[in-house]
Amino acid sequence: MSITLPQYLLNAVQKQEIDNDLAVLISSVAQLSKVINDKVTHGALAGVLGFAGTDNVQGEHQKKLDVLSNEIFVHGVEWTGAVAGMASEEMDDCLPTPKQFRRGEYLITFDPLDGSSNIDINAPIGTIFSITKAPQGEITNESFLIPGKEQVAAGYVMYSPQTIMTFSFGKGVVMFTLNMNTGDYILTKENFTIAPSTEEFAINMSNMRHWAKPVKQYVLDLLAGKDGPLGKNYNMRWVAAMVAEVHRVLCRGGIFMYPWDNRKPEQPGKLRLMYEANPMAFLIEQAGGAASTGKIRILDVVPEKLHQRVPVFLGAKEEVERVVRYHQELS
Ligand code: AHG
Ligand code: MN
Ligand code: MN
Repeated sequence: MSITLPQYLLNAVQKQEIDNDLAVLISSVAQLSKVINDKVTHGALAGVLGFAGTDNVQGEHQKKLDVLSNEIFVHGVEWTGAVAGMASEEMDDCLPTPKQFRRGEYLITFDPLDGSSNIDINAPIGTIFSITKAPQGEITNESFLIPGKEQVAAGYVMYSPQTIMTFSFGKGVVMFTLNMNTGDYILTKENFTIAPSTEEFAINMSNMRHWAKPVKQYVLDLLAGKDGPLGKNYNMRWVAAMVAEVHRVLCRGGIFMYPWDNRKPEQPGKLRLMYEANPMAFLIEQAGGAASTGKIRILDVVPEKLHQRVPVFLGAKEEVERVVRYHQELS
């Protein structure tokens, strides 16, 4: 018999794995993702393609769908009363819960639309979220600076041939597929385990000349295949949407990398700690994989800024450990 998302969450509440508010919060993300999904699947028909004509706090040109998804996310969560505040890639500062709503005990941080460059070419995109407990008192940007290891839940929704919601509240990773006829998310996979070794990697190779020595040498060794020091051939993929890359790693293994590079040397990497690296690292670790900056475990990074960036190496444990060794030996 198929298990719907509300049934699954109710069951988790009854087993006291999560409280009511967390169930409502995860459920609200599922609901709002259906609204984003509707816009995504209608594309040009819904008038959602192209640029919004604005920039976000990180100086990136916002797409219409970035802005719209952010609004849908905020409105989809605020009424629940489950959060004390929200923070997003698309908002300069956090949004404490408005006075008319109950101040809940959670904080939610999100990337409303991941993989923006894929929107207009009808390629995979997603939504990423991370949930922590809120500190007492007034909610400010500083309230969100909580290490990833303290996340109580995290997940993503992927809009692709299938719309899939994957999340974890610390008891393994579960995946639900949206039945677009009934509007139900149905449990389609649990007990994810990422194989410790792999023969597949993902990195934007066009940046190779900008990488630091350890990453350059590691990727050269991957490319050398059977004839090189690693003694096996590797396949490569690059979807340009972290949601899709992490989804692939969860489903069939591999390593995904977005390292520092000297195009913008002052930036530690491209991906953002709070709403990209941390939630994905949480899922990957829950599935038995590893996630590192190349130097330390991503979930141990102590955040200093809401929109902080970080280098990311995640997936198959042995391969992530190998990259860390290259960093130790060649830095
Ligand atoms: P976003 O659209 O939220 O800004 O994130 C895009 C990120 C990530 O999803 C992806 O892995 C990476 O940017 C792609 O970068 P390249 O354009 O360098 O391939
Ligand atoms: Mn993103
Ligand atoms: Mn985004």
